[in-house]
Amino acid sequence: MPPDRYALFGNPVAHSLSPAIHARFAKQTGESIEYVAMEAPIDGFAAAANAFFASGGRGANVTLPFKVDAFRLAGRASDRARLAGAANFIAARTGGMEADNTDGAGLVADLQTNLGASVRGARVLILGAGGATRGIVAPLLALGPERLVIANRTPARAEALARQFTGLGPLAACALVRIEPGGFDLVINATSASVRGEALALSPEMFATGALAYDLAYGPAARAFLERARLAGAARQSDGLGMLVEQAAESFALWRGRRPLTGPVLAELRARL
Ligand code: ATR
Repeated sequence: MPPDRYALFGNPVAHSLSPAIHARFAKQTGESIEYVAMEAPIDGFAAAANAFFASGGRGANVTLPFKVDAFRLAGRASDRARLAGAANFIAARTGGMEADNTDGAGLVADLQTNLGASVRGARVLILGAGGATRGIVAPLLALGPERLVIANRTPARAEALARQFTGLGPLAACALVRIEPGGFDLVINATSASVRGEALALSPEMFATGALAYDLAYGPAARAFLERARLAGAARQSDGLGMLVEQAAESFALWRGRRPLTGPVLAELRARL
């Protein structure tokens, strides 16, 4: 029997670690799958995904810039995909494509399991109010933080997001240059500043004693933020490599009904980076 086929759609995807992660999960669990990265044209996600599923593809992950397209393309979506308005996961089900969003679960698993950071009762600050932020607000609020503040360069975007998630928990919005002093236990960079090679201004008042600074990006793309955070007083820093591996594990478990061990895979990728 040929292996079941899975793909990652994005643009660009050439340097993605996802095929390597899923290959390790498959080996570990003995599941017979093939997982390849597929670059779709910027305006061609729907055509590429439709062709893949029509030819027997069983599931896909979706990365930038297609997460909103993926959510719209699928006939059905999970609650967490609907809350995020975006999907990084599609499964072929009887009756069509089903979308989900495993990014938030990936972040939560990395924070709580790998980094031992408790969000319950914590003061949490998210920098940025774009697509990356939309996917993590509801999962973080579900953990019961003392407060969650979204700070954005364009304050209106942060306010719009906060309105959208009203009722889910203690959520506030502000401008990046007007962050309340007093300190946060967890500061998450969800902006695209570092990817664009631009610097974020961080003030020492942002970080409470023992604070963790976390960048959703990983490797070199996260370095500038994490170094600035360290200099501004963040006691601990982490990039988002663990989140990448954990969202992949959540995807694998949804597709295959078996949850792979993430620790060894994360350690191996960390050593390679
Ligand atoms: P993504 O889907 O990656 O979140 P996005 O929707 O374009 O991408 O959002 C990018 C986020 O990074 C936004 O919050 C953006 O701030 P604005 O809403 O003010 O544009 C933020 N961002 C990008 N470059 C930035 C910079 N140099 N300084 C501060 N924030 C920046």
